[in-house]
Amino acid sequence: MKIVLINGQNHKGSTYHIGRMLAEKISENITEFFLPRDFSDYCIGCSQCFSVCAQKCPHYNSQQKILNALDEADLIILTSPVYVYHVSAPMKNFLDHQGHRWMVHRPNPSMFRKQAVCISTAAGAGMRSTNKDMADSLFFWGIPKIYKIGIAVQAVNWDGVTSEKKQYIEKKVTKISRKIIHRNGKVIPGIKTKGFFYIMRMIQSKFGWCEPDVKYWTEMGWTKKERPWKEKK
Ligand SMILES: Cc1cc2nc3c(=O)[nH]c(=O)nc-3n(C[C@H](O)[C@H](O)[C@H](O)COP(=O)(O)O)c2cc1C
Repeated sequence: MKIVLINGQNHKGSTYHIGRMLAEKISENITEFFLPRDFSDYCIGCSQCFSVCAQKCPHYNSQQKILNALDEADLIILTSPVYVYHVSAPMKNFLDHQGHRWMVHRPNPSMFRKQAVCISTAAGAGMRSTNKDMADSLFFWGIPKIYKIGIAVQAVNWDGVTSEKKQYIEKKVTKISRKIIHRNGKVIPGIKTKGFFYIMRMIQSKFGWCEPDVKYWTEMGWTKKERPWKEKK
């Protein structure tokens, strides 16, 4: 199984260790990125990705390494420490750059067959809203199966985490890793993903206010009989 692990932080703290622990339980094929080390250009709000195409983003080239790995992976793992109840700024910035991949615009068909995991740690609280920050993007990219791991580590680094807590983390991570292995290659979108897809399909067919989106949906055959979760005939 191919895994891409995208860390919303440069350092190897609790969040990183949990992400790495999960990945290693699943596969040896892990491609790892750190933000902002591997992508640090801030979205300038030019909207070229929406109104023209992704290639017009001034930061198109600097994202390609991560995006190629993202599209090729069977499993996407996003990690972020909780910073004031939300994702880190570098993770948010990376997700902002992928707005054009949302279902309302031009989702990549490969996403509809992947699994993903959001991982966050906090000293005490804020994992739910932080994981939601990441899960929102994953869901609207089209990913049908998203797991969330939020741990209150009561520490500011991995060395400060107690051995009891580490045992609890190990158990939780092992359980999720088994589910992911079992479901690899078998996931299909549920009612929520399909429901959004069909609403977007209706918008593209009937209203189509953004020309590049309409063109994309038409070319993909999604306004007719093709579906992103099925192999193209
Ligand atoms: C800027 C900043 C903001 C933080 N905000 C929160 C917070 O809102 N809630 C919380 O419980 N911990 C907060 N923390 C603590 C970290 O989320 C916590 O220590 C986390 O486990 C660090 O993960 P790491 O070891 O991967 O860096 C914050 C830490 C920093 C540096």
